[in-house]
Amino acid sequence: MTEIDWEHLRAEAHAATERAYAPYSNFHVGAAGLTDDGRIVVGSNVENVSYGLTLCAECNMVGDLARQGGGRLVAVVTVSAGGPCTPCGRCRQVLAEFGGPELLVDGDGTPRPLSELLPGVFDPDRLAEG
Ligand code: THU
Repeated sequence: MTEIDWEHLRAEAHAATERAYAPYSNFHVGAAGLTDDGRIVVGSNVENVSYGLTLCAECNMVGDLARQGGGRLVAVVTVSAGGPCTPCGRCRQVLAEFGGPELLVDGDGTPRPLSELLPGVFDPDRLAEG
């Protein structure tokens, strides 16, 4: 199991806030994740004049994960430039795809398992139930 350096992840997430494109909300978000083989993935929010097309930092972080060849997330930190930023509901589902219920997520200064942040997740087993 990869050791989780939360301070390092927090620093990476903070650095990512500086690369956010958020001219509409001016809310700069950064996300940093650790993979089970020790890689770091990062993302920043990218807004759009058509507000609903905005890409959250976590979504872009998952894009970085795919770009690096994929893998499983074991820990994620999300922050805004001015303080905490707990992942939105949609991003919790996006994170579940690549980390599952045990993924540790720190959105408010305290790492919590995703199962706590998103109880009753829609996972691949649910497809089989249909
Ligand atoms: N945002 C994220 O990047 N991640 C979240 O989990 C919550 C919200 C962004 C979207 C938008 O650019 C800004 O924060 C304000 O909602």
